[in-house]
Amino acid sequence: MDLSHVIEAARTASEKAYAPYSGFRVGAAVLTEGGVVHAGCNVENASYGLAVCAERNAVFGMVADSVPENRKIRLAAVVSPDAALCFPCGACRQVLREFGCEEVVMLESSGATVRYPFDALLPHAFGPESL
Ligand code: THU
Repeated sequence: MDLSHVIEAARTASEKAYAPYSGFRVGAAVLTEGGVVHAGCNVENASYGLAVCAERNAVFGMVADSVPENRKIRLAAVVSPDAALCFPCGACRQVLREFGCEEVVMLESSGATVRYPFDALLPHAFGPESL
């Protein structure tokens, strides 16, 4: 699978991050099973605890821009120009899991890509099928 367009969408989104408090910019993009890419960036707030991560903004954008049958996430890409490697936080892993994310791809500062099967990042997950 050619991941370059997904990673590029995440990288472009990272340039739009609103992160005046942490100075830590993150971009994320999710690729759906149907081949559509939805991107997001982190958005912070003067009330610090209201910050929302790039990954969750990408997923929430997917939900807003798609119909329910097109919301299966094949993979997520995460890029930060401010970290050698940016793993999704725990909350974002749980949100990605909700929509069946199978893999997470990260871009290292060296330009190399690192791929993790989703189960390696969130084993024994609680998901929709658990209810
Ligand atoms: N952040 C993300 O957007 N994604 C992550 O996976 C880790 C953290 C954001 C949240 C906050 O705006 C900043 O990075 C510092 O934690």
